[in-house]
Amino acid sequence: MKIFKIAIILCLLGSSTLFAQAIKTRTHTNFDEGWKFALGHATDYTRDFNYGNGNNLFAKSGESAGTAIAIDFNDKQWTNIRLPHDWVVGLPFRYVKNDDIDSHGYKPVGMLFPENSIGWYRKSFEIASVDSGKRFEIQFDGIYRDSKIWLNGYYIGGHFSGYNSVTFDITDFIRFGKKNVLVVRADATEFEGWFYEGGGIYRHAWLNTYDNLHFKSNGGAFAHAAVEDKDARVTIETNIENRGIKGATATVYNYITDRNGKVLAKGKEMPLDLAVRKDVKLSDDILLRNAHSWDLNDPYLYKAVSVIKQNGRTIDSVQTRFGVRTFTFDSKTGFALNGRKMKIQGVSCHQDHAGVGSALPDELQYYRIKLLKEMGVNAYRATHNPPTPELLDACDSLGMLVMDETRLLNSGKEYEDQFRDLILRDRNDASVFLWSIGNEEYVMQHTDIGKRIAQNQVLLQQELDPTRISTYAANMGNYFKGVNEVIPVRGFNYNLGGLDGYHAAHPDQPIIGTEVASTVTTRSIFTKDTVRAYVPDYDLTFPSWASTAETWWKITQDRPWFIGGFAWTGFDYRGEPTPYRWPNVNSHFGIMDMCGFPKTVYYYYQAWWTDKDVLHIAPHWNWKGKEGQPIEVWVNSNADDVELKLNGKSLGKKDMPRNGHLVWTVNYQPGVLSAIAHKKGRVIKAKVETTLSPVSIKLIPSKIKLMHDGQDAVIVNVIALDAKGREVPDAANMIQFDLQGSAEIIGVGNGDPSSHEADKCSDGQWQRSLFGGKAQVIIRSLKSNGKITLKGFSSGLKADEVTFQ
Ligand code: GAL
Repeated sequence: MKIFKIAIILCLLGSSTLFAQAIKTRTHTNFDEGWKFALGHATDYTRDFNYGNGNNLFAKSGESAGTAIAIDFNDKQWTNIRLPHDWVVGLPFRYVKNDDIDSHGYKPVGMLFPENSIGWYRKSFEIASVDSGKRFEIQFDGIYRDSKIWLNGYYIGGHFSGYNSVTFDITDFIRFGKKNVLVVRADATEFEGWFYEGGGIYRHAWLNTYDNLHFKSNGGAFAHAAVEDKDARVTIETNIENRGIKGATATVYNYITDRNGKVLAKGKEMPLDLAVRKDVKLSDDILLRNAHSWDLNDPYLYKAVSVIKQNGRTIDSVQTRFGVRTFTFDSKTGFALNGRKMKIQGVSCHQDHAGVGSALPDELQYYRIKLLKEMGVNAYRATHNPPTPELLDACDSLGMLVMDETRLLNSGKEYEDQFRDLILRDRNDASVFLWSIGNEEYVMQHTDIGKRIAQNQVLLQQELDPTRISTYAANMGNYFKGVNEVIPVRGFNYNLGGLDGYHAAHPDQPIIGTEVASTVTTRSIFTKDTVRAYVPDYDLTFPSWASTAETWWKITQDRPWFIGGFAWTGFDYRGEPTPYRWPNVNSHFGIMDMCGFPKTVYYYYQAWWTDKDVLHIAPHWNWKGKEGQPIEVWVNSNADDVELKLNGKSLGKKDMPRNGHLVWTVNYQPGVLSAIAHKKGRVIKAKVETTLSPVSIKLIPSKIKLMHDGQDAVIVNVIALDAKGREVPDAANMIQFDLQGSAEIIGVGNGDPSSHEADKCSDGQWQRSLFGGKAQVIIRSLKSNGKITLKGFSSGLKADEVTFQ
């Protein structure tokens, strides 16, 4: 009986293993866990684990003894970390009079700080002997920067870019059934940008396995759809290579499924006969009947599945998400999505966020895109570098257009390869509507060299992705020579005074505002403060090259041929303190702050970019000590008229100018400042009230269910309430946080652009003061199960806690 039972179990195991092998043709395994980290040194080999000190690293293959690259190196003292990991965000702020340090947010990294600028990572893992015979590949989606990578002491390659994804075939270097050690040395002594960039393996890492005969890693499948009335003709191009030791024959086919995996249409079987080390491109067209369009409010995604079959067995299969939609750029009528004319209501964004620097959990990408959508943004410009793939996933699935930008304009091998890799990686993303070949290359953008480089990049783009076109972010005003001569869509960075002249002279070139506005405001601060380096939270202040939000948006509305543009920026980011310097460490350009808390200008955009009822009064009404003094009150709304009242007494009714705002000057008295507006005959109301002092804390989580996958995250906003339960908009209390259960806090922030408080509390005592009444805590799950509770407390305030399921 016993034997019988065991036999059944074995039999079941056997069949399920066989089944698993039959369908598990390829794996894509997250490689974020189990890393060890230590800082090295850029100029002193004794503090850089002997790197570069006569150890034959590059003289003899596989030689690494005496360095941190060696398999048996003792890394017990190194810190345990999980990816994504940015070591720079945890460094203290440090004032140094130096442009690079200033533009990177006063973090002590770069050539002046060799002790903080080399990051070493080690990860041990095993691969079973039964798996030998497959191909193995390591994938990094972003390492800042100039990284060198070794497996088991063997140098497997270097990666110059701090922003592109990269893969390395590691098959030959694997020790099957034994410990393998992957080592990365990231070198952040040089910068690539003029904004905070972080340091380290700050995006995901993956281990990919597949058959010797396989779809190529980057660019292995490209699915794009041409709309034919109600149907769509989907072209699926596949790129297959044979890395085996003998020629291979197989068949290749594609099919399309809906988003739930239901097969909708199948392509033809294509024979394949591929010699050793050869690759081939195959293409097939599949008609998709009654295609469901991808659109901003209905971002429907299909899947194209591509299969390689050999001797009746599937040996490789990849899934490609794609959308059915049309983009039209017209020099007279502007931009249209699916034939519907629309202005690009865009924002430019850098990638960092409060608390976590450039190492964002995926959930935070979705959180940020959702915030932008609520504001009415329909397009995101990834400045000035390739985004992480998860940002594009969020835009694909939430419905946000993307202008995808390569780091710099250069057609030399390094940068041409970077642009190629970017296009091959992102051309399937439904959201990408425009490529950008670069930004403000002021040394050469107006020259013949600039023109030749741009021509090369435009042709490269058309070769790899004929379904889209390119722009370039030029700060050249009404000037045609150089890059602008060959770029399909002329990009204007600022200088909108040159717009009409340029359009008149070049009526056949569509024009987009690749970068506009650059209004500077500090959330919740309404007076200029040159000591703490704050600018008022009204749409008033901008650097010499820029404008208010209202100026550029009115220009856009008045010109049907102007496509719209990307306001600089959606969120504040670290670095580029403007117009002040230290103690200011963040930019003020954001329409939202570093945490995603809205500033006043947010409501300007929301009023004119959405059809929601918007009625917003700024400032708050806590001005103790200013009784009787005049205060400028701004009302942003899309109503027809607005009446303002102080403590019930009317301060006058005004018509709301289209694409404008209203201002009253009000002598301060504590109490209630209210607005009553009419919109198409309906009444809308809003108010700001003088509050009492804070008595309690309130935690507001972005969600209350957290997956125990070691990846999921939740964003918890923190505010203080008065005795009547009203949010206190100028509260500044220090809040402590205690987290119990299977998750960890990964960062805190408050949006104060001059705050030098730690984003990462390395002693485990997490805390952050409220700024303008708000702070934020970001939590990431661990892999074990269990209840998670976050408590926020502060002396003199009633604590609050939230439990996650
Ligand atoms: C632009 C530049 C951006 C940022 C911005 C600030 O010229 O492209 O990266 O520096 O100015 O206004």
